[in-house]
Amino acid sequence: MKIAVAGTGYVGLVTGVCLASKGNQVWCVDVDETKVELMKQGISPIYEPGLSELMKEHMDALTFTTDYRSAYKDADVIFIGVGTPEKKDGSANLAYVYTVAGQIAESIEKDCIVVVKSTVPIGTNDKIENFLRAKVRRDVNVFVASNPEFLAQGTAVRDTLHASRIVIGVENPEAGEVLKKVYENFDAPKMVVNRRSAEMIKYASNDFLALKISYINEIANLCETVGANIEDVSAGMGMDPRIGNRFLNAGIGYGGSCFPKDTKALSWLAAFNDKEIKTIKAAIEVNDSQKFKLIKKAKKYYDSFEGLTVAVLGLTFKPGTDDLREAPSLVNIPILLEDGAKVKAWDPVGVANYKKYYPTEIEYCKTIDKALEDADICFIFTEWPDVKNMDVALFEKKMKCPIVLDGRNCYPLDAFKDVHIIYDSIGRPVVD
Ligand code: UGA
Repeated sequence: MKIAVAGTGYVGLVTGVCLASKGNQVWCVDVDETKVELMKQGISPIYEPGLSELMKEHMDALTFTTDYRSAYKDADVIFIGVGTPEKKDGSANLAYVYTVAGQIAESIEKDCIVVVKSTVPIGTNDKIENFLRAKVRRDVNVFVASNPEFLAQGTAVRDTLHASRIVIGVENPEAGEVLKKVYENFDAPKMVVNRRSAEMIKYASNDFLALKISYINEIANLCETVGANIEDVSAGMGMDPRIGNRFLNAGIGYGGSCFPKDTKALSWLAAFNDKEIKTIKAAIEVNDSQKFKLIKKAKKYYDSFEGLTVAVLGLTFKPGTDDLREAPSLVNIPILLEDGAKVKAWDPVGVANYKKYYPTEIEYCKTIDKALEDADICFIFTEWPDVKNMDVALFEKKMKCPIVLDGRNCYPLDAFKDVHIIYDSIGRPVVD
């Protein structure tokens, strides 16, 4: 089978490489020549643990190209894995998906299945199929299948090779059979449903996880007021298998390229259909406010940041990625800077991207020690292992005034038994 994948972002490239690792010949297509040149040398243009290694191992089965015609013309299966960013009104922008669909329509010379991996509003697969059929050569049959992606950045390769489930949304049983064959060697339960259900499974799953996070964040906020400890509360709740123990970590809100976008897109879709998903609207509202939680906490200790040295640990939206999309650091650091703080930031992989926003305004530090040196307050935005595993005595040793605001609950409270600092985290009593 010849497989082509449109788009070499997190979804497209990981899908392409994982399919190649299972013995398929895969053509990965991207419009960006620089990215394609890098990939031809076996270098992944995105930071994703394990991806470069797997890519290098299977270069024989991978072709990277900007020449979409050669890739699509005789492909049996074409995956669309391009982005569907958020529009101003919250709806999903399908421009990239339709550009690719247009290129597929003008290129294909034999029957094929177009598989939409991108997250698209319910009903989009139907529209893409109609769009393709109106444009392809008369003697070519094309079917569209929905195959939503559930990988998370930072664990994308593992999530793909050992997926929790593979959802195949088809209106035509033969297309379902072909996709089952494509995924035959993947160790994951497969379910075949209709296209609209597959599209909905994706949104409903992401939005449920976002809801779970906003819920635990609100419980954490209440814990602070009533004197409970969210770590214990989450642990106690998580022991109930009906609730499950994952995605119950309280913090400064969810970020990334998916939850913020997909919650807004589903709300938009509901409104468009004269409906309202109240729970998701609330999840969005809670998240928007939770992102500022540490700044609000800081006001307990300082009236203004003017003239203060602020240490920032972690810039990315979560560990294991260099992605800054919707990262809490991006809304908090501007406030600190505007208020006159001197910001010293440490992040193991996010600095290059952050410099695109703030090339000179921030002092970027190579080590955590350097970032903490002489700081009046420290903000932890990302729970990188280096932060979680560091000796907490360093805060006391290095900082001028050891006030640590931890947005990701990196340390157990008893870690501070012999350390004299103010440690203020999320949903737990303040240590001082
Ligand atoms: C998410 C989903 O987890 C994937 O299943 C999905 O395929 C992907 O979106 C997508 O639609 O492409 P991702 O955005 O990479 O993956 O990252 P997550 O690990 O889900 O984290 C999202 C955000 O939630 C992060 O900011 C993280 O810090 C936050 N989070 C997560 C919490 O605040 N608490 C938790 O308990 C878990």
